[in-house]
Amino acid sequence: MKHFAPSIAIDRLPDPVFAELAQRIGSVKAAGHDVITLGQGTPDQTTPVHILDALRQAIDDASNLQYPPFRGHDFLKQAVANFYESEFGVSIDPATEVAILLGSKAGIVALPQTIVNPGEGVIVPDPGYPDYLSGAALAGAYPITLPLLAENSFLPDYNLLDSLDVERARMLFLNYPSNPTGATATAEAFEQTVAFADAHDICVVHDLAYGGISFDGPTRSFLQTEGAKNVGIELFSLSKRFNMSGFRIAFAIGNPSVIASIETYQEHLYVSAFTPIQHAATVALSSDQTCVRELSALYETRRDALFGALNEIGWVGPVPGGSFFVWLPVPSGFTSQSFTDHLLDEAHVAVTPGHFFGTYGEGYVRISLIADVDRLVEAVKRIGTLQLFQTAVAE
Ligand SMILES: Cc1ncc(COP(=O)(O)O)c(C=O)c1O
Repeated sequence: MKHFAPSIAIDRLPDPVFAELAQRIGSVKAAGHDVITLGQGTPDQTTPVHILDALRQAIDDASNLQYPPFRGHDFLKQAVANFYESEFGVSIDPATEVAILLGSKAGIVALPQTIVNPGEGVIVPDPGYPDYLSGAALAGAYPITLPLLAENSFLPDYNLLDSLDVERARMLFLNYPSNPTGATATAEAFEQTVAFADAHDICVVHDLAYGGISFDGPTRSFLQTEGAKNVGIELFSLSKRFNMSGFRIAFAIGNPSVIASIETYQEHLYVSAFTPIQHAATVALSSDQTCVRELSALYETRRDALFGALNEIGWVGPVPGGSFFVWLPVPSGFTSQSFTDHLLDEAHVAVTPGHFFGTYGEGYVRISLIADVDRLVEAVKRIGTLQLFQTAVAE
């Protein structure tokens, strides 16, 4: 059999570390252990009934089963604009400032190719969602690390970037509420981002994958920042907000020149999302958002229960303000990987090692709030029996 070597672009893609971890968890389960899996990023709750009803209804109309328009349906783009107005007070032109994406992952991986040329730079947060690097790799772009440090509450400090790198940069990815750190953005951080991007002609891509899951006030949209539309776009996903991860639907919203490039790119690659899914997304955005507030409250209850249990075993870390992730330092003597292995082998608790999210993730693990309170507390109790943390001594 002939062997066709992968292209340079495929070779540049980062290793599939998450798949390897899933395999290892699978083999511990296959050995008969009750593994508490807190490593994944897939919501455990179901899509709200009114959204499912809209999907079913749309499927029953035969005209919805044909090719959708190349750039998606205008009614959905209008719903996105109405939603941004009512939720964030941001005015959007549905005709020129919204592109429909087949999930924000598709947008992230495609975006560098739409704006950045080979050899130009893409600034990626570290720790950050790994697909930003995949997007840069496919574009032949040069990845520039933006360290997100605990002492800065995991918010960007652009002074940490090398000035030559900044001159090379064409795109900047950011993500708040953050995967993996759980940090939420401040108005000041977004203002500094606009000023930095404006000064250096960098296109900001703010990934709002966890919009609506915020515990310290409403989620902030990057587009609420003055001048944001001038320098970039926001990716808004329905996957986590409405438990619609399997639907594959999200939006790019903002700067019309960037939206136009995405639309052109997508016209060559896809014929937009299945029309019944576009109807379901329209209903999700246009309906009362109580289901989102309830979902956020559920994650908050889990977060509080987890931190109550962590406190009892002496494991201290930053309390997340949003997303469904908790970012915790590993005890001394461990690396992210050795601690992850230790927890899986000795406590049968699966977490994600921090270095999967970049060099600055080393020394941390990520725990997902994707299990009910009993399982979260049970996981921490099991970890507590390993006696790895110092508990406060009563006076
Ligand atoms: C930060 C971040 N961005 C984007 C995505 C992809 O979301 P979508 O389902 O919209 O492709 C995820 C999924 O876990 C994520 O954590």
